[in-house]
Amino acid sequence: MAELNPCGIVIFGASGDLAHIKIFPALYSLWDEGFFPKDFFITGFARTKMDDNQFRKTIHDSINIHCRKKPVDAKHFKDFSKHIHYLSSNYDDIKSYKSLKTFIEAKSAEYSMPKNFIFYLSTPPSVYESIVDGIENSGLVSDNYKGDGFSRIVVEKPFGCDYDSAKKLNDKILSVFQEKQVYRIDHYLGKETVQNILAFRFANAIFEPVWNNKYIDHIQISALESIGVGLRGGYFNNAGIIRDMMQNHMIQLLSLVATEPPAFFDAEDLRNEKIKLLKSIRRFTINDVKNYVVRGQYDRGIVDDDEEAVSYREEKGIPIDSITDTYVALKLFIDNYRWAGVPFYIRSGKRIKKHKTEIAIYFKKLPYSLFGKNSIEKIEQNVITITIQPNEGISLKIGAKSPGFKMEIDPVELSFFYKSSFKGTPPEAYERLLYDIMEGDQTLFYRTDNMLTAWKLITDIINGWKSLPAPSFPNYESGSWGPKEADDLINKDGRTWHNEI
Ligand code: BG6
Repeated sequence: MAELNPCGIVIFGASGDLAHIKIFPALYSLWDEGFFPKDFFITGFARTKMDDNQFRKTIHDSINIHCRKKPVDAKHFKDFSKHIHYLSSNYDDIKSYKSLKTFIEAKSAEYSMPKNFIFYLSTPPSVYESIVDGIENSGLVSDNYKGDGFSRIVVEKPFGCDYDSAKKLNDKILSVFQEKQVYRIDHYLGKETVQNILAFRFANAIFEPVWNNKYIDHIQISALESIGVGLRGGYFNNAGIIRDMMQNHMIQLLSLVATEPPAFFDAEDLRNEKIKLLKSIRRFTINDVKNYVVRGQYDRGIVDDDEEAVSYREEKGIPIDSITDTYVALKLFIDNYRWAGVPFYIRSGKRIKKHKTEIAIYFKKLPYSLFGKNSIEKIEQNVITITIQPNEGISLKIGAKSPGFKMEIDPVELSFFYKSSFKGTPPEAYERLLYDIMEGDQTLFYRTDNMLTAWKLITDIINGWKSLPAPSFPNYESGSWGPKEADDLINKDGRTWHNEI
């Protein structure tokens, strides 16, 4: 791979969890594997009072826990950490941004490198707009930089809390940065298994011809977790699973499994196809919200075989009468030539029996059975299961003759697993995404129209809920497969959830 251009990365919110658990471990891995440019520096910007050495120590400790390259050799880490600096700052104080400007310009001069800056917003969203103001007012993105280096901004989720707030935030960002400078992160797009959806579809001649409503009966997309909200109650109670998982990760999985092939595999062409797909998803009326969307909230129960779980309302920071959704299942349709009439069932929830994220593609039943006693009902449908995690891989369920004198057909699996087929550990999602940001490749990031169209769909549901009677929560036990109504949603169509473990 070509060496990346030198750059300075500024991490706003550098003292927080996301920076410690995801961003720095990923940066360290990239550096350790030689993917970093020779000249670089990383500046932490946050409220906590610390000096460089104290900050480096917190990063060291955290990498030791969260990085796939652990344990970290102290001397080796020192070589990395000499590029790391920290500025105790205030998000709404222009002086902090001016000091930042002076600091990073001096660093660029010290390395004799162009003013290539990446501004990473890893703070709570409540300060996003202040940061963009600070960047603008201090002249951090000046015209000069257009000729002498690049400026890029990276924005974490949640990107707004509905269509209007997302649009307002986006307008703010685009008043300072151009679209080609904005990297809106969805870590699912950085996962190897998620990228493999496109490889599977478009690098194999045998699947694409059957990838349509002529052969596919329905598709299920599930992201189920056995964990609860843990210590993230403050954030989660305002978001719910609908914003936390559906608006971003689930819609991205849906667009990759359903998109048309792009003209070229590059940022613009892929995102052009994705927006066509997103626009073809049928919008939800209030009636659809009532009939096709199920929401749930977990009660007490047993998860992961023997762990006792408290109910959502008993979690830290959650009001005892909260009606926030910790589970959502929905059915939607894509009104285009390829998918007309094929239902997509999508679900995501916390405190579910098993952790699994997967896409299950169910092919149509046989029109006729050749094998006497095996009635059509007994022969199972072909199912392709793309497992995003855990046990990353792909399997195809087929019918095979079971051994013996009779012609009995039983289901068997043809499987591929990442672990056994490929050597070494794949990069973490954040490694891939950070590499792409440094390289300037936006293929795995949302464009404005993609992000806002996803919000339109989800805002229809959120608004629908507001006009429907309040749900009676909790409505599913921790350690179960979710609310009974979610089973009803799919069972009444004569189908069942793919709950195989
Ligand atoms: C995050 C959500 O975006 O994704 C979390 O905020 C969720 O609530 C997580 O647990 C799931 O990510 P992964 O990579 O573990 O599937």
